[in-house]
Amino acid sequence: MDRNLALDLVRVTEAAALGASTHMGRGDKIAADQAGVDGMRKMFDNLDINGVVVIGEGEMDEAPMLYIGEEVGRRGEKSAAVDIAVDPVEGTNSVAKGLPNAIAVVAMAPRGCLLNAPDMYMDKIAVGPQAAGKVSLDAPVHENLKATAEALGKSITDLTVTMLDRPRHAEIIKQCRDAGARIKLFQDGDVAAALATCFDYTGVDIMLGIGGAPEGVIAAAGLKCLGGQFEGRLIAYEDSERERCKDMGVDLDKVLTMDDLAKDEVYFAATGISDGELLKGVTYRGNNTARTHSVVMRSKTGTIRFIEAFHKLSMKPSYAY
Ligand code: FBP
Repeated sequence: MDRNLALDLVRVTEAAALGASTHMGRGDKIAADQAGVDGMRKMFDNLDINGVVVIGEGEMDEAPMLYIGEEVGRRGEKSAAVDIAVDPVEGTNSVAKGLPNAIAVVAMAPRGCLLNAPDMYMDKIAVGPQAAGKVSLDAPVHENLKATAEALGKSITDLTVTMLDRPRHAEIIKQCRDAGARIKLFQDGDVAAALATCFDYTGVDIMLGIGGAPEGVIAAAGLKCLGGQFEGRLIAYEDSERERCKDMGVDLDKVLTMDDLAKDEVYFAATGISDGELLKGVTYRGNNTARTHSVVMRSKTGTIRFIEAFHKLSMKPSYAY
């Protein structure tokens, strides 16, 4: 795939973030999501790809745009055939309430290389490059904490575990506390939290717990570019979910590795909507301008680019903000 596509991809997440951020704190998560989708969908038309959305806004009958199976991109004869995973607003509640950690995010890989994950829950573990290969979703919590602490050259008491603040995590939280680790809970946005394990400055060492499966595929793509480790296991709470997995040929008991979730050459881009540990959110400045902060990466080279962009909104098409 053309390496310039990575930079094109960041325009897609910038457009989604600029759109969604106009709804920051206004209490309407549906409007925020729609604005993110509108910006992202139209910007895809500029990319020289023959893309199919495999992780998107839902099935065709429930999502007017960026639905699963939708074809995106210029779709010329020579355009790269790719799978696309999108989350135009990862953390819709956070945007509606003006809370931190919301991002616009896209992952891309050659056709057939991103898992078409059903919309259900996934148990997850994520660590950065130093602890990569040393943890396992099958291992007890205290062993994963010990292995991560050793890999980072610190004691478990200095380790920070992050996870979604949900009642379903009461038992893992207890196990982390019993092992002596520090815990940092967050309200929403486990893609950004998984990525945060790969950057020292976030102060986050390992992410554990159950979140959305589609977000798991996107996080795996990001951690693959960063040289971290991500594993996931689908969790079915309903019989219908078990049936769905059977129909899709996805194994419920299997620990899914990064390669099961996102194989081959992966591209990843994210733009902050609200401030997070990893990325700053969109800020509006004088003279009808805005600033965005994004990260864009390719697994083939491992290059990580942080891009701070200043946008003259009066010179952009209306969908892009
Ligand atoms: P949305 O943006 O779709 O609301 O997802 C936010 C999120 O926090 C994800 O980051 C996470 O994977 C999932 O929701 C957790 O689901 P739940 O809120 O049901 O616990």
